[in-house]
Amino acid sequence: MKYNFDQKINRLNTACEKWDDLENRFGVKDVISMWVADMDFQSPPSVMEALKRRAEHGMYGYTLRPDSYFEAITDWLKRRHQWSVNKEWIAHSPGVIPALALIIRSFTQPEDKIIIQPPVYHHFSRIIQAQEREVVNNPLKLEDGRYTMDFDDLEAKIDPKVKMLILCSPHNPVGRVWSEWELMRLGQICMKHNILVVADEIHFDLVYKKYSHVPFARISEEFLDHSITCIAPSKTFNLMGLQVSSIIIPNKELRHRYNKEVNDLSIGSPNTFGVVASEAVYRHGEEWLDELIRYLQKNLNYLTYYFREKIPQIKVIQPEGTYLVWLDCRELGLSSKELDDFMLRKAKVAMNEGYIFGDEGEGFMRMNIACPRSILEKSLQQMEQAIHSLCKA
Ligand SMILES: Cc1ncc(COP(=O)(O)O)c(C=O)c1O
Repeated sequence: MKYNFDQKINRLNTACEKWDDLENRFGVKDVISMWVADMDFQSPPSVMEALKRRAEHGMYGYTLRPDSYFEAITDWLKRRHQWSVNKEWIAHSPGVIPALALIIRSFTQPEDKIIIQPPVYHHFSRIIQAQEREVVNNPLKLEDGRYTMDFDDLEAKIDPKVKMLILCSPHNPVGRVWSEWELMRLGQICMKHNILVVADEIHFDLVYKKYSHVPFARISEEFLDHSITCIAPSKTFNLMGLQVSSIIIPNKELRHRYNKEVNDLSIGSPNTFGVVASEAVYRHGEEWLDELIRYLQKNLNYLTYYFREKIPQIKVIQPEGTYLVWLDCRELGLSSKELDDFMLRKAKVAMNEGYIFGDEGEGFMRMNIACPRSILEKSLQQMEQAIHSLCKA
């Protein structure tokens, strides 16, 4: 391996939310942090070099997105996702969540309904409710340890007030990489009822070897014209702090409406370093990413083996993409509060509580495995010991 993902780097006292906010978020300090979707790996060396070069210039004024930036993104999409995107389609947002808020404000009215598919990334419902729109849940089905979409329930929940569906693809937290058939079926239902599909594809580059991500908009001209796709280099290359994302809006009228909202709020000028870093990773980060995925796959294999052999009370929902693992802890027979307390105070591992992703997440935990193997090993040993004492008690 050319890159050292085993290297442990102390992140404490770097204003790092994942490690420095533990006490504030969980009320504990001496725990292993495996919650928020943020990796304990350095970004590719090409990013650090590009950022240093840019920093040395010493001028950090209002920034444009140059042609070279758009080229780096469109080349990446073509090369890795077989999707031809025109540079004019790419609008800006400092992040995907702010973009979702802008999209909701631009294309729906207060009290309109928006569909989501829980258990799903918890900020979806928060952002919908914050804009005074109504959340409609179309829960995923869990059968034989695998989640699928419930199309009958989806059709049954659609009424004229439903204007939008927010798709999470690949899905956080259950880790599904949706097949072309599933996306096609979902899209057909939405098109039939004139529902705008907003595809949050932020995890699009983090897919394990046997699977392949299908951009929703790539499936047909109709889907392309009636959807908005949100992507970013942030999860893939751990650049969340640089606040940059691409909002792909092929339909001209929709794009103008989105851009008007961006201009009205004066948030069109991107982060200087975000632009530099994006270009660097999309041009030079491919080899690093391929190694990262191999490393994550080994972490996943190790974790799967460990739970199966040593902690069989917890079932691993096998992710097909993302570095987030959805753990079914229902067999432990603990209430939500007891499960949180147990993981934090007995196992001393901080994970995301399953119920924040919707009622369907009760009894589950989301574990972030994007860390050096030694940290993963330690967290699993701590869980194993805690569960042994729980079972003995
Ligand atoms: C599905 C999904 N969308 C959006 C985000 C956050 O995006 P941003 O930081 O660009 O607002 C996350 C972060 O974990 C996520 O998992």
